[in-house]
Amino acid sequence: MRRASVACLSLIVSLAWGQSGTITIDASKKGADVPKGLYGVFLEEISHAGEGGLYGELLQNRGFEDANIPPACDVMNGQLVPPRSPHYWSLKPSDWTMPWESRGPFPGWSLMSGPTSANLAVVGDHPLNSTKSHALSIDVHHAPAIIGNQGFWGIALKKGESYNLRAWIQADRTFRGPISAQLISAQGRVIAESKWVGIQSGHYSLVTSRLLATESDPKAHFAIKLGSTGKVWIAYASLFPVKTFLNRPNGLRPDLAKMVADLRPGFVRFPGGCYVEGLTVETRAQWQQTLGPLEARIPTYSPWGYWNNNGFGYHEWLQFCEDIKAEPLYVFNVGVSCAFRSGTFLPDDQLPALIQNTLDAIEYANGPLTSKWGAMRAQNGHPKPFAMKYVEIGNEQQGPRYGARVGKFYRAIKAKYPHVKVILSSWISGIDHAAINAAGPIDFVDEHAYTSLNWALYNFDSFAKYPRNVSWKLYIGEFACNGGVGSGNMAATLNDAAYMMSMEKNSDLVKMGSYAPLFENVNSPHWDVNMIHFDAARSFGRATYYAGKMFAENLPQYNVGTSVRLDSSNDQPLSGPIGLGTFATEAEFKDLTVIQNGKTVLENNFATQADGWKSERSAAWQIVDGAYGQRSKLEGDECFSFFGNGFHDIDLSVSARKIRGTEGFFVSVGNIDGMRVQVNLGGWGNSLHAIQINSGSAVASIRGHIETGRWYAVKVVTRGRSIQVFLDGQQILSKELPRSRTVLAISGVDPKNHDVVVKVVNTQTTPAPMTLRLTGMGPVGPSGTAVTLASPNETDENSFDSPTRITPHTTHLTGLRNQFRYTFPANSLTILRIKASPTKHLGASRL
Ligand code: AHR
Repeated sequence: MRRASVACLSLIVSLAWGQSGTITIDASKKGADVPKGLYGVFLEEISHAGEGGLYGELLQNRGFEDANIPPACDVMNGQLVPPRSPHYWSLKPSDWTMPWESRGPFPGWSLMSGPTSANLAVVGDHPLNSTKSHALSIDVHHAPAIIGNQGFWGIALKKGESYNLRAWIQADRTFRGPISAQLISAQGRVIAESKWVGIQSGHYSLVTSRLLATESDPKAHFAIKLGSTGKVWIAYASLFPVKTFLNRPNGLRPDLAKMVADLRPGFVRFPGGCYVEGLTVETRAQWQQTLGPLEARIPTYSPWGYWNNNGFGYHEWLQFCEDIKAEPLYVFNVGVSCAFRSGTFLPDDQLPALIQNTLDAIEYANGPLTSKWGAMRAQNGHPKPFAMKYVEIGNEQQGPRYGARVGKFYRAIKAKYPHVKVILSSWISGIDHAAINAAGPIDFVDEHAYTSLNWALYNFDSFAKYPRNVSWKLYIGEFACNGGVGSGNMAATLNDAAYMMSMEKNSDLVKMGSYAPLFENVNSPHWDVNMIHFDAARSFGRATYYAGKMFAENLPQYNVGTSVRLDSSNDQPLSGPIGLGTFATEAEFKDLTVIQNGKTVLENNFATQADGWKSERSAAWQIVDGAYGQRSKLEGDECFSFFGNGFHDIDLSVSARKIRGTEGFFVSVGNIDGMRVQVNLGGWGNSLHAIQINSGSAVASIRGHIETGRWYAVKVVTRGRSIQVFLDGQQILSKELPRSRTVLAISGVDPKNHDVVVKVVNTQTTPAPMTLRLTGMGPVGPSGTAVTLASPNETDENSFDSPTRITPHTTHLTGLRNQFRYTFPANSLTILRIKASPTKHLGASRL
């Protein structure tokens, strides 16, 4: 830890300064209590978060079920096709499909001893039990035959550590053995070997052994060596490190589990996400399938495109929550499959069974030993109830049909478990009042907030606008700044920090929040921006991981009034190039005029040329029949063509026509704060006209759609930061674009430690010299600490090569008073803990 005086810190600034100002902290303005469990985690089976990630299993496809086509689905022309039942929004079958990548009959396994040594096949005529029908049959022609498993993109072994092997095997009478299990380095050296004995013919035997690695290797593999000709069936083969998190058998990968524990999560939301909904209702997550003997568990097909063997199941998750002292929060399917995929709504007559199933799960977690499911929990090793307090019904569903369904779950759950809090899942970006009203009473509403760069800075006060006279509280089950931020750079982290600050500041309403997604196996990412990255051997946290840790470690007991006043404003006008664009649509434009200060500065009817227009991406913008159009790309990319730069305070007129596709067209009119401002006509599946900043959520919108083949007269007028949009002569939108905040602050009081806790984000690329004024309290200081997460460039990211490039640093501060100067570094999140005498405002009565 470094020690520095405040005066000294104020001098350590670069020559370039950002905006300066004053942060006033007024402890006499007591705000809401901050819940101890405000920050939790959301653990979903996406990007191999569990299977091939947190769950300790080292072998891929341990039960030989990974080539199965998901139940109720077909494969047609390389696409996985769900049953064509009506989608619950449109009442027509969804035409959604996803690529089905065939990885052969036994993904993860291969014959390593040469093609003539043996025949491998996955067979259904040698089932291990009633739930596990497939086995690998190995017909050895030339011994030895060696069957390998590559693990999850390699098996990381550590010298001196042991690995437990469990396999169910049988042989025919002609096979004389021996069989051995081996761990083999990437260079082909055998670094551990054990012989398997006791293999029978006619039925499966469980063979176990322990392998001691004599070398470390981040990319080893596993092999089974068959020493004679004959036939062998393997129904299940599992390799587990002896060292797991807290050394639990069937446990978790220690580095990843510890990273989660270090976040001190108040709760763990599990198992999804879309995973709960399933790409079809048949593939939805089902908790009972994840209990009991590992080799009898029914795998679940994740909608993210791979099988989960369910070794980390309901019981293991409850145990993990207990181990890390986090509340379990389980998400149940509501009888609806994912709206982005098949969107099937199971008929109401199936609801009683689904509700009963949910009650059974709660009984498993909370019921007494005398109950059926409580007894099962005890049999599985945990007699004491887990005392689960939170359940969520559905994920990202919407509308009154969904809400009414949640109401039925709510009433059944409350009748039996009045203390269990029931959460209604809302939509992305906002709360769904139609669903809430249809549900009736509800404890929590779960909003999801995936936002683009700077959204959180523009919308720092968005929660203040939420209704307070409601019976429910808000849970932000999934949040992340994930648009326009690489794979999660420092700018994303500052946005995430600003978003967390806005939750914390509004903790009278927002009681819980969890970032998403938590994990990414870098060999198979299914989402662009994730918090913890790993491969078989290594892991690192993105800067947002450290921001989350800082927030969890510095929760005040309650908020106090905090305001930021900057000495100058960042009032840049809207200015930049003119752009014409499309998304998932082909469209054309003609008769463009731009007037600035009463003069025509750009005019092109596009009859013959588009000189000076530059298209981005590979979209082909061309003049065809007297119009300039994008006619080559229908997939979901924004395709723009831009002209010039520096246009501001303009009147832009253009005619636009949609040729085909699912949306309308864009006109962009410059940038503010480095972000493109665009008018999106017929966006969101041709349902809205909107003004967007940086392709993100709408800052202003109105319902509307664009007809194919019709010419529209579009006019956009900009003055300073204001923008007006006209369609066919009618004004449809008008907005003064918000100012992006550069310095944001919240604060609270931690009476136990006599600390005022101040959280400050400086999004400027230059340091922000600020005066801090602490009022409404007795004398403060002279000591304190500053924990700072900063990076010189907003595009900086942690990586395997520089895993700790952006990590928090703690500095001891001296010389603090009720008013002092502090310079917040460029691109930084800082948490100051300032010592204060216990006064009544500092919660002396509570000390
Ligand atoms: O976090 C990834 C996905 O985002 C979740 O599965 C879903 O709930 C959301 O749309």
